[in-house]
Order: sequence, then C-alpha cells, then structure tokens
Amino acid sequence: MEIIFATGNKGKLKEVKAIFQDTSHKVISLKELTVIPEIVEDGLTFEENARIKAVTIYDLFRKPVIADDSGLSVDQLQGAPGVYSARYAGENATDLDNNKKLLRELQNLPEPHPASFICCAVFYDGCTYLKAFGEIPGRIIGEPRGEHGFGYDPLFLPEGYDKTMAEISLDEKNKISHRAKAFNLLKDIMRRDGKYET
Ligand code: IMP
Repeated sequence: MEIIFATGNKGKLKEVKAIFQDTSHKVISLKELTVIPEIVEDGLTFEENARIKAVTIYDLFRKPVIADDSGLSVDQLQGAPGVYSARYAGENATDLDNNKKLLRELQNLPEPHPASFICCAVFYDGCTYLKAFGEIPGRIIGEPRGEHGFGYDPLFLPEGYDKTMAEISLDEKNKISHRAKAFNLLKDIMRRDGKYET
C-alpha cells in the first residue's frame, strides 16, 4: 500500500522511509506528488499541527497519510522554540539562522542547557486517526558540531552521548531519536489496528 508522508523535509523523509522499510507500505513524500499544497501549521501543539498536515493531505489525495510535527523544547526558554522550531528566527529562516538565534538566547544563561526533541506522529486514512509521541532528552552545546542530520542536530547532545545528533550516523539517529520513537510506536499501533501486514 502506498502511504503519503506529509513532509517536504528531506531529512525527515530519509528517517521515516528507513523506519517503514520493513512494512508493506511504500512511503512517498509530497515532493513526489504533482501538486505540492501549502499547509498552514497554525496549531498550538505538536499534535494539532501533525493532525492538520495529515487531514489536509488526505483531503487532497484521498490516500492514507502519515504526518508528524516535531521540534526542540529548551527548559531555560520555557519550552521554546517548541512548535515554532522551524521558523524560530523568522518565516523564511534557515537552519543556520535558527541555530544562531538559539545560541544568542542561551548565551547569558548558565550551563547546562537541558532540552528535548519532541515528536508527534499521526496516521489518517479518512476514517481512522492514530497518534504516537516520542521524546529524546539532552542538552544544547555552545558551538555546532557535525555534518549529518538537519535543524538543531549540530547543537544537540543526546543524554549519555558525547557526540551531537549531527555527528552520529542516520542509522544511529534512527535508533534513538524522538521521531524514531514516535514512528516506531505509530507503526506498532497501525499494525495492531490492522493498517498493514509485515
Ligand atoms: P516541523 O517540520 O514543523 O515538524 O518542524 C520541525 C522543526 O523542528 C525543524 O525544522 C527543525 O528545526 C526542528 N527539528 C525537528 N526534528 C528535528 C531533528 O531531528 N533534528 C533537528 N531539528 C529538528
């Protein structure tokens, strides 16, 4: 069965395709479709935004959809950037702009800077709505390190690791990340619900 992953983010797509590799689903992304819709993510929580993405894409293509919303939550910033992670430094901000802003916001605050990546993953096929959450604790370091991953990965040191999320391989990230946890759980819930055969 073909399932649309409602994302235009190449980093996320790679991660989620790898997670669904052992299922009967072929995960395709918005970039592989003819019309790429504009989705207004105006929810106040990760789940609201994930649901908005899934329902919008389902309504357009009438095919099963998985979607997620995720972000970084920094304790000393009262959970910011949170649902605004992608546009922390402004509407068209790049990862670099966002990382610079994060370092500026933290520069006068004492170390360590505890933080978590959080992800809500959802499935929607027009009648069934399923959801799962994943979280990875860690801290923000003072300078970016590593070339892999995307977003805030170069600044995020997962708890118990001495490498940032951008220094570990995709395979390793896919074992520990918030998205991996959320989508692996969603996969289990989908299986229990009879949404795919392995
Ligand atoms: P979304 O596409 O609306 O879920 O926005 C997610 C934003 O949160 C991304 O643009 C990144 O800035 C940040 N983010 C989410 N997951 C990750 C991750 O695995 N690594 C680094 N940054 C992430």
